[in-house]
Amino acid sequence: MPVLGRLTLALALAVGVYSVGANVIGARRGRLELLISARHALWAMCAMITVAVASLWVGLLRSDFSLEYVASYSSTTLPTIYKITSLWGGQQGSLLFWTWLLSIFTALVAIQNRRRNPEIAPYALAVMAGVAVFFLGMLNFVTRPFDLLAVAPLEGSDLNPLLQNYWMAIHPPSLYTGYVSATVPFAFGAAALITGKLDDDWIRSTRRWAIFSWFFLTLGNIFGARWAYEVLGWGGYWAWDPVENAAFMPWLVMTAYLHSVMIQERKDMLKVWNLVLVGLAFLLTLFGTFITRSGVISSVHSFTQSGLGPYFLTFLIVVTVAYTVLLISRVRMLRSPAEFESYLSREAAFLFNNLVLVGIAFAIFWGTIFPVLSEAVRGVKITVGPPFFNKVNGPLALALIFLMGVGPLIAWRKATRANLVRSFAAPALAGVVTGLAFFYAGGMRQWYVLSAMSLAAFVLATVVVEVARGIDARRHLVGESPPRALVNLVAKNNRRYGGYIIHVGVVAAFVGIVASSFFKAEVKQSVHQGESFRIGNYELKYLGLESSDTPHLASAVARLDVFDRGRWVATMEPAKLFFKQPQQPATKVAIRSSPRADLYVVLAGIDEASGLVTFDVFLTPLVFWLWAGGLLMAVGTVVVMWPNVRERAAIAAAVRRATEDEFAGQAVSPGD
Ligand code: HEM
Ligand code: HEM
Repeated sequence: MPVLGRLTLALALAVGVYSVGANVIGARRGRLELLISARHALWAMCAMITVAVASLWVGLLRSDFSLEYVASYSSTTLPTIYKITSLWGGQQGSLLFWTWLLSIFTALVAIQNRRRNPEIAPYALAVMAGVAVFFLGMLNFVTRPFDLLAVAPLEGSDLNPLLQNYWMAIHPPSLYTGYVSATVPFAFGAAALITGKLDDDWIRSTRRWAIFSWFFLTLGNIFGARWAYEVLGWGGYWAWDPVENAAFMPWLVMTAYLHSVMIQERKDMLKVWNLVLVGLAFLLTLFGTFITRSGVISSVHSFTQSGLGPYFLTFLIVVTVAYTVLLISRVRMLRSPAEFESYLSREAAFLFNNLVLVGIAFAIFWGTIFPVLSEAVRGVKITVGPPFFNKVNGPLALALIFLMGVGPLIAWRKATRANLVRSFAAPALAGVVTGLAFFYAGGMRQWYVLSAMSLAAFVLATVVVEVARGIDARRHLVGESPPRALVNLVAKNNRRYGGYIIHVGVVAAFVGIVASSFFKAEVKQSVHQGESFRIGNYELKYLGLESSDTPHLASAVARLDVFDRGRWVATMEPAKLFFKQPQQPATKVAIRSSPRADLYVVLAGIDEASGLVTFDVFLTPLVFWLWAGGLLMAVGTVVVMWPNVRERAAIAAAVRRATEDEFAGQAVSPGD
């Protein structure tokens, strides 16, 4: 198996290099047979890497400790599911996994574009293959997954116990999928620049890929945050750790990109900007990997540190310089005749949306690299910490939520007074009433919370007004009942209403984030068996401790009865774990979640001598809505991606045309 793995990785590198050359030369000289063989080479590359991945999986499942990777990240007692997930539990394996995804996406793009985009597709494929060649170079020469140990140990060192959690099967693959698929729109953007074919084709051809990438970035971030919430035991879900930032920045830029392309599609504006954003999103995914793996910036979440930093940095610099030079050389061709007419217009709302999103990403970038800069300039590593991120991003987030209410309803070109009143009078009123209600009835005095809740109500009201108007129109025009009108409205305009569902999800998540950041309560209490303590309306009674000991794991589980205003509601069981191989303590948090608040109980300490047990308990209002918002964003994205009736007809027509072309093309390319 190791030999097969090494061999297929070497072959994949060779065919990858060939495909870059064949695509470029084939496109420049117009040689169809070369382009076809370049495409076949990409499929071969994907097949080779698939065999390599399968080989490593076989090694992991068979506990073949002659492989250094398997000995480092697995063991005979590791449950099968974690043997499988160990593929991305360490440096070499996760890089192999990344490269595998890239090769699959490249192969799919090659299939999708067999007849489409004849001018730009070969260059896009060359760019994707070029990126794969870089990763394959790493896997062949720098960080090899199939290195052997001189003497195979009898037992492996096991996967880090922190990673033996079901999220291991979900969070890393989601993020990697989001990261890697961002290469597709980037490659098409670069190809458009190389060929000078700078109309909207590259954007249209990659819209689904961009949304696909955004979808998985969203899931990856949310799943990571949920994992942190469930296992780390500090009651929070986000700490502005460099790796968290590395996942958040491409998401922000990709969000900006998804919006700014709408302006290019409809108004032929922002062409340069779109190319900047798509480049930035891709570079940020590389930057994320650089951060995780280089150890240049210390993170609590670097499971895959190694000496890869300089290679990634070099690659990052080369891609940045090449892309920038390309972009500058084409700037004149990208000038748009259209101009902004007014700041009170949908175009302007989109522009501000982009500025705010990129502003947030820039602030996070700055905060993340500040320790490195400060060390270079002053010789001391200064970490900026969460207050910096919250202070800068808090107000920007408010601006973003405000724009999210304004953007979808304001008129294109120039809003009139009548348009503004018609669209925004009711939502503005809803916002003001909500703010006043929180102020007077809720007794809330923090300006930030009041603004956040008002703006959230404002955005929700814009969506309600818009949906109500749509339903009303269908009722009058087609005579449908309201529920039927709602279903048809979404089905016929899935992109628009999917966007609204996503926005509602963002608002829900935002409310959850604000409430949990401002109103999280914490009580740390030591109690004897039978004693009780309080947090908010809850009373917690400690019933006792149960210990167990196996060769693998020692654990102590505490039982607590929970009463809400005197009424029993649950028994909770937080635990302390101690893994023995390698030796490492861990906590098992008990969480009781509801839309109103989460009760989060950590077993913080056990003093066997005195019988005192210490609990760290958090009561976090509305944090439920962060996860619910994430789910809504995912549902909205599926709605957005669903091919609607009109689109399906267009696709059917395109397929018909392609099939006709195929018959025509067979005479030209019998070998394809
Ligand atoms: C807000 C929370 C989180 C965010 C935003 C986040 C972000 C990321 C990112 C950006 C990567 C890809 C790194 C790369 O380029 O190689 C990643 C991978 C990974 N994450 Fe997370 N993560 C979060 C929480 C967690 C937690 C709590 C754990 C485990 C306790 C975890 C375990 C992993 C593992 C094992 C990988 C794959 C290996 C690696 O690349 O390091 N993540 N995560
Ligand atoms: C973090 C904040 C935001 C997120 C995550 C977000 C996400 C999305 C997504 C994924 C779509 C679907 C895109 C597509 O179909 O290609 C969308 C649509 C849309 N978004 Fe946002 N958005 C955000 C903020 C904003 C803001 C500030 C504006 C204001 C200009 C805005 C205006 C729109 C509009 C007008 C649509 C399209 C609806 C249509 O097709 O008519 N969004 N949004």
